[in-house]
Amino acid sequence: MAKIDILVGLQWGDEGKGKFIDRMCPNYDIVARYNGGANAGHTIYWNNKKVTLKLLPSGIFYSHITNVIGSAVVIDPTQLRQEIEQLAAVSPEISFESQLIISQKAHLVLPTYKYQDIYAENSGASRKIGTTKNGIGYAYSAKTLRQGFRVADIFVPDFAEEAATVMRREYLQLEALGQKMIGFDELLTTFLNDVAYLKQYTIADTELLINAALKGNKRILAEGAQATMLDIDHGTYPYVTSSNTIAAAACVGLGVPPQKVGEIYGVIKAYNTRVGEGPFPSEINDHIAETIRIRGNEFGSNTKRPRRIGWLDLPALKYAIMLNGVTQLIMTKSDVLNGMESIDLCTHYQLDGGLQEIYPSGQDLGKATPCWKSFPGWDIDFSAITSKEQLPYELKSYIEYIESELEIPLAYLSISPKRDDIIEMR
Ligand code: GDP
Ligand code: IMO
Ligand code: MG
Repeated sequence: MAKIDILVGLQWGDEGKGKFIDRMCPNYDIVARYNGGANAGHTIYWNNKKVTLKLLPSGIFYSHITNVIGSAVVIDPTQLRQEIEQLAAVSPEISFESQLIISQKAHLVLPTYKYQDIYAENSGASRKIGTTKNGIGYAYSAKTLRQGFRVADIFVPDFAEEAATVMRREYLQLEALGQKMIGFDELLTTFLNDVAYLKQYTIADTELLINAALKGNKRILAEGAQATMLDIDHGTYPYVTSSNTIAAAACVGLGVPPQKVGEIYGVIKAYNTRVGEGPFPSEINDHIAETIRIRGNEFGSNTKRPRRIGWLDLPALKYAIMLNGVTQLIMTKSDVLNGMESIDLCTHYQLDGGLQEIYPSGQDLGKATPCWKSFPGWDIDFSAITSKEQLPYELKSYIEYIESELEIPLAYLSISPKRDDIIEMR
């Protein structure tokens, strides 16, 4: 029987997961999103055009791939409709009717959840997380409280009435707090229209489909959104997203037993970025950070916010590799560091007068200071590189050090945003 492979981000998101999933599609039959919602932004270059996918799985451009939105994803119907319509306009060859399958257990993001998220972020009345304001936390809260609406509910005759009741209550509360919103009738009508629009696509028990596909020896790739350090349990809580992001969440989100998992691809950038609030010990704020931000185009794919920049953090990566059980390591964006005089790397933390290699958690994280190791930089024309042998000596040394510390060899190195600019390292 076939196994399901999982691709997961090992830092704070935006590692280049979309690029790799797109690149790996020829080897798969199904690509299945297992967590998160429209907070994701996965960039793909298709026919030399840049596309950012938020809810649609990254296999959508391939006619042979079935794209599954799994049950632990939270779906904003308006966002999904916009994404489909925008893509259909530029890529009419995509058949969403045959290439997309939505779990009937996936929860819906109500438009009032987004306003709640905006209110919480802007009002100063709640802890500021720096969310993407997509209502993600509110959708998962409603799910956990067992008050959420699932995709299956849209077929129930009194769905419109029940959703309107919840939305009206939330709307009135937000209005009383002074939150600016579009009129309630327009909000409700748009939501119900977009929900009705979704009915034309295949809505199914995706866990049955995926398990049957495994039995039939189909090759499946589970697409992680966000990343390990944003995991609700194991990330830098409370500055995390509201879903489990790690590889184990693919089993839950897609309904696959753990023994059916095959390869676990872990993606890292050659440096670190983070969007939103929260601890980021290896962060740098000098002119080097600015250079990396500009060269690496480190502005949110989704929200356009400037991403915070830092050096690689080995304790955090060791922790992420442990949590995910990574079997294949992928590094992106080494080209962005091209031309730097030196590259730093956080090897340990100084905490309470001692050195530690383990990523500090909870309150300790705020007290820990990083210990650095410096590497000489590299400066070559990356566009001419097609094989491992052509990589500059300094980059190879940087990679070798990381491999020995992480105790896992690098399988692939990406050297540009383009699909084919990937070097096989083994
Ligand atoms: P994801 O959320 O993990 O899919 O990553 P994003 O798409 O949000 O952000 C990654 C960004 O880096 C995108 O703009 C990609 O086009 C770009 N990218 C991916 N790999 C490379 C690489 O090796 N070099 C450079 N320069 N850019 C890359
Ligand atoms: P991809 O899949 C980077 C961050 C937000 C914020 C925190 C909570 O493209 O890697 P949320 O809207 O989820 O409640 O915000 O999580 N965040 C991401 N950061 N990449 C993402 O997705 C992210 N999705 C959420 O910036 O700090
Ligand atoms: Mg992204």
